[in-house]
Amino acid sequence: MSRTYKVAVVGATGAVGEVMLSILSERRFPASEVIALASSRSAGFKVSFGNRQLVVQDLATFDPVGVDIALFSAGGSTSKEYAPKFAAAGAVVIDNSSAFRNDDDVPLVVSEVNPEAAANRPRGIIANPNCSTMQMLVALGPIHRQVGIERLNIATYQSVSGTGRLALEELGRQTAGLLNFQPVTAEVYPVQIAFNVIPHGGDFTDNGYTTEEMKLVWETRKILGDDSIRVNATVVRVPVFYGHSEVVNIETRDKLSAADARKLLEASPGIEVVDEPVAGGYPTPVTHASGKDAVYVGRIRDDLSHPRGLNLWIVSDNIRKGAALNAVQIAEWVIAHP
Ligand code: A2P
Repeated sequence: MSRTYKVAVVGATGAVGEVMLSILSERRFPASEVIALASSRSAGFKVSFGNRQLVVQDLATFDPVGVDIALFSAGGSTSKEYAPKFAAAGAVVIDNSSAFRNDDDVPLVVSEVNPEAAANRPRGIIANPNCSTMQMLVALGPIHRQVGIERLNIATYQSVSGTGRLALEELGRQTAGLLNFQPVTAEVYPVQIAFNVIPHGGDFTDNGYTTEEMKLVWETRKILGDDSIRVNATVVRVPVFYGHSEVVNIETRDKLSAADARKLLEASPGIEVVDEPVAGGYPTPVTHASGKDAVYVGRIRDDLSHPRGLNLWIVSDNIRKGAALNAVQIAEWVIAHP
C-alpha cells in the first residue's frame, strides 16, 4: 500500500485555509488524517473537507508530533511562532505568509517554475510566494528561461480576498449599503473599497513603496534566481471578490515577439492563453479566473515603444493558484521526492 500522510491546515477557517482543505480533497491528496487548526476563537467550529466536516482545534494547545505536512495560512506572526515548532516536531511546513520568504535558508517555490528548490529546506520550511508574484511568475518563468528578463513594469488590480475573510465581508457590506443609500464605514481598508480603487496594498516602507510592491521585487528575483532583474511595481486594490489581474510590461534580453510569446505560453504548464483581439477575447477575474486553477494570459502585444518590450495581461484566482493550490502542489512535490 502506498504511503499516506498526516496533514495539518493552520488557519483552516480563513479564506485561504478553507480552499486548502477543498483542494486537498479535490486532488485526493494521500492523507491518512487532515487536522483543521485555527485560533481558540474558532475551536469546536466545523469546516468542510470534501463531504466531511472537521472539528477545528486550537493551534495553541495542539501537539504537532506525528504531523507529516503542515500548510500554514494564518498570518505572519502565527507562522513565526508555530511553524518552527511544527518543523522541529518533524513536519514539512509549507507557509503561505511572508514570515520566511526572504530568508536565505527557506526556499520560495512556484510549482511550475522552481519546484526543485523545495528539496533544499534546512529549516523544514518552504515558503509559498505572495499571490501577485505567484501568478506573474507562472507566466514569466518560461519567458525568462527562453530569452532572459531584464526589467518588469507592473501594475496590479488585486481583489479583496487577498486581504482575508474580513475584507470580503467589507466589500459585500459596503456595496449593499451604498445600493441602499446607507452611509458606509471603512474598517479593513483605509478608505471605502466598494465602487472605488485604492493604490495601496500592505504597509508603506521607507522608500515610498508598499510591502506588497516590494514583495514583487524581492520574490521575483529569488524565484527566478536572478538578482539583476529590475522590477517597478504599483499595487492597486479593486472591488473584485476573487481573482487578481496584472498588467506586466517586460523588457527581455533577447527579442521575443508577441506571436512567439503566445506559442511559448500556450505550451507552458499551468497557463491558459485567452487572446483574441475581439470584445471579450481576453480573460477577466469573473469570466475566467475565479474558482479555477489556471493562470490566464491575454492581451499579448509587442511594446511599440521598446524593441525588446512585451505586454501581458495576467489573471488568476489569487486564493487558488495564488495561495492554496500552489501550497498543495508543493506538498505533492515533496511527497513525490522523499
Ligand atoms: P480564526 O478564524 O480562529 O481567527 P483570513 O486571512 O481569511 O482572515 O484568515 C486567517 C486565518 O488565520 C483564520 O483561520 C484564523 O483563525 C487564523 N488565525 C489568525 N490568528 C491566529 C492565531 N493566533 N492562532 C491560530 N490561528 C490564527
